[in-house]
Formats: sequence, structure tokens, C-alpha cells
Amino acid sequence: MKLKSSQTLGEFIIDKQADFKYSSGELSRLLGAIRLASKVVNQQVNKAGLVDIIGAIGNQNIQGEEQQKLDVFANDMFIGALKNREVVCGIASEENEDFISIKSKDDAHNSKYVVLIDPLDGSSNIDVNVNVGTIFSIYRRISEDGPVTLEDFLQPGNKQVAAGYIVYGSSTMLVYTTGNGVNGFTLDPALGVFYLSHPNIKIPEDGKIYSVNEGNYLKFPQGIKNYIKYCQEEKENRPYTSRYIGSLVSDFHRNLLKGGIYIYPSYSQAPKGKLRLLYECNPMAFLAEQAGGSASDGFTRILDLNPVELHERTPFVCGSKKMVEKVEKFMKDAQ
Ligand code: AHG
Ligand code: MN
Ligand code: MN
Ligand code: MN
Repeated sequence: MKLKSSQTLGEFIIDKQADFKYSSGELSRLLGAIRLASKVVNQQVNKAGLVDIIGAIGNQNIQGEEQQKLDVFANDMFIGALKNREVVCGIASEENEDFISIKSKDDAHNSKYVVLIDPLDGSSNIDVNVNVGTIFSIYRRISEDGPVTLEDFLQPGNKQVAAGYIVYGSSTMLVYTTGNGVNGFTLDPALGVFYLSHPNIKIPEDGKIYSVNEGNYLKFPQGIKNYIKYCQEEKENRPYTSRYIGSLVSDFHRNLLKGGIYIYPSYSQAPKGKLRLLYECNPMAFLAEQAGGSASDGFTRILDLNPVELHERTPFVCGSKKMVEKVEKFMKDAQ
């Protein structure tokens, strides 16, 4: 068998360093730390059925969710890797109520970047052997010096310098952007090396897959209900195919490669939906746009929303450009 590509993620990051707006090597080291932690998490996810890593830990996180052992493990791994390498001055995570401020060894706060992370996405899928993921979003700090501030994290998504995800699936992939297109790397598990397998990913302009938790249908806004009915109509190239894994990373990844739309709308008990703007929606929106797709809250571009708190939620509509436009039209018409 021949390898599809021989360029490794490590080589690719160094090659592309010159494209970064601020090419100090720091962002490369940061991406290297994420790459390393993802391999450790991948090992645990792979062994999940064999070792005592499945199940709840007995704590609730700030979102009111039951934390899983792997949520905590992945959180510790990513935070540990980023701290040790002194590549960020702050980290915010789904699993931590407050952001963490990081000092370098000389007691200064020299690093320029902050990371926001969903360490384990789709954690309710772990014990049934369904894909899970990690999502990350990277900004340059805006405060001049000293410890990071909340404002460094509450920047609109259009200020992201990099974003990506890892999908721990039938094969493990890391997909990321630094604002110059989207590239995907597949892990060779024997060598522990990510290889460039999906260069310059483009999402089809239109698609035939819709991904939404239809169990909540009756609670959805009228515009979303109308759109779902539209997807099911026997007309033109419809009905579309319904595919919903319940793990944002996996649903997004499939739609990115095949064309489609992912919807997590607001519903009666959750006026802002479920997904978190800063470490779920913004990074996915950045990737979608960089691949030629788009992302919206139903009315407004996700990347233009101004966050006001770390764990805030937003309705999320993301994927092929024409499909997102269609949802926005249905939302507007139903107002
Ligand atoms: P997380 O596991 O990081 O808390 O994220 C869960 C999210 C997301 O992955 C998924 O798309 C969504 O929750 C599924 O929610 P429903 O079960 O309500 O459809
Ligand atoms: Mn969670
Ligand atoms: Mn998640
Ligand atoms: Mn999570």
C-alpha cells in the first residue's frame, strides 16, 4: 500500500509558518502542543472499552452536564500540554467555570495567544463506541501585558487566528485553518504521525444532507420547522437525507466533506440553543467559511456575534452556503 501523502502535520505547520500574520514560531509551537495532546487522548479513546475510562465521574460542569471521565482526562491533557510548552497565556475550557491564566517560567506573561477548547465533544457517545472529537479556537490576546483578562477571550469569531478539530473516528483526523483554507491530516496509528490526507478542503456549495435533532421538532422556531418540512418534500432533488450522530465534530466533518447542513436551533426551553459560541460554534464557523461554506445563528453571521460571557450559547446553522442561505430565508419569512 502507498501512503496518499508523505507530508506530516509537523512539516506542514513549519512550511506554512511564513503565511501567519505574525510569524514568530509561537503559533506553530501551539499547534504542536495540540497535536501532541490529541495523540494521547486518541490512545485513551481507542482503549475506552478496555480500561476504566468510561462513565461519569460524579461531578457536574458549569453547563450543568454530568462530566464523563474522558471529559476530564481530555481537559487535563490539553491544558497540560499547553501549559508545559509555555505557548499560551490563557486557556478557557468547556469543563472549567473560569479561564486559566498561564505564566511562563520566568514569571512573566509573555505568550501572545489564548486558546478556547471543547476537550471532548460528543461525550455522551463514548460508552457506545461512536465518534467523539475535540474543538479548539485560538486568538491573539488584546490586553497589552500582565495576566490575561476576560476580554482576551470574549473576542468575536472574526478575530480568530486559527481553529480546528480532531475527530476520533474510524480513523483519527485533525482538521484546521489559520485563515488560509482548510487542511485535514489523518493519524497513522502505528507511527503516531499525522499525514496530510485532505489538502485544501472545500465544502460543496449545496448539499443533500440535513443534521438536526428532530426529537425536539415541536419546540423549534417556525422557520426551522418549515425548513425541515422543505427538506422532506418530494420535489426537485428532495427529500434530503437525514443524518445526525449527536457529536458536533462528526456531524460537521461529514457535512464538510459531502455537503450538507448542521442545525442546532433555539427551542422553547433554551432560547439560545445548546451549543457554546466560543469553543464550539466560532471555530466551526471559521472552518466552514474557510472551506467556502457559511455559519449563522439564523439571522446573523456567527463570526460577527459579540460574546458577552465565556460559556454563552447560540443557535447554530452551519454548512453548505446555499443551504444556510435557505434556512436564513425561512427564518426571515416566518417572523
Ligand atoms: P459536549 O459533549 O462537548 O458537551 O457537546 C455536546 C453537543 C454536541 O456535540 C452535539 O452536537 C450536541 O451536544 C447534541 O445534543 P443533543 O443530544 O441535544 O442533540
Ligand atoms: Mn459537555
Ligand atoms: Mn461539544
Ligand atoms: Mn465537550
